[in-house]
Amino acid sequence: MSRSDFAAVILAAGSGTRMQSTIPKVMHPVAGRPMIAHLTAALAPLRPTATVVVVAPQMEAVARLVEPAVSVVQDPPLGTGDAVRAGLAALAGCLAPQGAIKDVLVLFGDTPLLQAETLALLIDERRRSAAAVVVAALRPPHPGAYGRLVLAGDGALERIVEAADATPEELALGLVNGGIMAIAACHAAGLVATLDRNNAKSEFYLTDIVPAARRRGLDCRVVELPAEELIGVNTRADLAEAEALMQQRLRHRAMEAGTTLVAPETVFLSADTRLGRDVTVEPNVVFGPGVEIGEGARIKSFSHLEGASVGAGAIVGPFARLRPGAVLEEGVHVGNFVEIKEARLGAGAKANHLSYIGDGTVGAGANIGAGTITCNYDGVNKHRTIIGERAFIGSNAALVAPVEIGAGAIVAAGSVVTRDVPKDALSVARGQQVDKPGRAAEIRARLRRQN
Ligand code: UD1
Ligand code: MG
Repeated sequence: MSRSDFAAVILAAGSGTRMQSTIPKVMHPVAGRPMIAHLTAALAPLRPTATVVVVAPQMEAVARLVEPAVSVVQDPPLGTGDAVRAGLAALAGCLAPQGAIKDVLVLFGDTPLLQAETLALLIDERRRSAAAVVVAALRPPHPGAYGRLVLAGDGALERIVEAADATPEELALGLVNGGIMAIAACHAAGLVATLDRNNAKSEFYLTDIVPAARRRGLDCRVVELPAEELIGVNTRADLAEAEALMQQRLRHRAMEAGTTLVAPETVFLSADTRLGRDVTVEPNVVFGPGVEIGEGARIKSFSHLEGASVGAGAIVGPFARLRPGAVLEEGVHVGNFVEIKEARLGAGAKANHLSYIGDGTVGAGANIGAGTITCNYDGVNKHRTIIGERAFIGSNAALVAPVEIGAGAIVAAGSVVTRDVPKDALSVARGQQVDKPGRAAEIRARLRRQN
């Protein structure tokens, strides 16, 4: 998949006004991953010589996220053309003809669905056609705010008209600008230097490099790419649309790799969800970021998993919640209304009903009774609970951390355990049972008399 000698410039400095948000647009997640990280992930297999991300002031979080890509600050952001100028400045000396980079691939940080193969097509078309600029085109059902592509009779690209500047005839054109383009590196800086702000938004439009190239006698082309991959997210509604498409893609991929999704449209995956072969996911399951499921495991309905690892053959749910740091080894059973956080359950351990296990370890083969709670927080600090192998914790036990239950120990139901329990011991930590024969009937009779 690798393509040698190209640089990627990702534009991410736009204010994202239409998102009505305090966080940068490109940091909004799609399938649990910020949009910009989808782009760097799509670029990775192509091995760009350099990746430059153009950010606005106060976007340190974006710069940190994309490392080791270089970030440059565009201050103030004056349009997509101005952003590319800022990006190219970071590549000075590396671009052909002096440098080795032959192509500059311009990407927008708000198109999270792009895939490596599609980016490769664009670079290949630029090299094959020897055009100065190749623009990714799409034919969406509703062209809306996309720039319209005006073609010459021979199919060459003449110019791109932004929707805000277009005449009704131009608005009627169905082929539009997907926003990404490959520019011959030797012409990139020269073309961008010609841009001005004589347009509806008073911005430097990157799209104006097309007529600039033609004035210099250079060829510009389009390559039609899958519309679904070029969706640009400008609003929350676009974000939801991108999410839906990404979910479809991830579900399809999971099934192709050998996972059964009983009702795929109800399962929500993250971009990094890893599902082993013969995993079955029942309807209505949500996978947040950082989840890995081992071979043959079953995730039952209405479970929510995040930052968790589930071993082969384990059964989770229905209605289970695995929070970050939950590690279930092979064959573990975690049942309904059980929450696990920052805790490892050894092979074959069971916690089948109504439990909270946080900050601890549960040994292999241990049985955690219904309603067992690890009391891990004293209001100031978190403490750990260690439960040994094959230990049996009776129903409704409260294990007040820090505490250790020895291997093979039995904790009686209803106990509040505040001290360590030795290995193989029985621990009973609850009020003694007192039975008073006949007292229930006496009480009832007295209460009736009082009425
Ligand atoms: C742009 C295109 C339009 C195309 C559409 C595809 C231009 C002038 N218009 O419009 O033809 O159909 O994308 O999605 O190029 N950005 C900066 N600095 C700036 C301005 C923007 O880095 O000063 C970044 C944004 O963060 C964003 C990208 O450039 O990632 C595109 O900007 P956006 O405002 O979304 O452009 P569109 O109006 O969608
Ligand atoms: Mg956009």
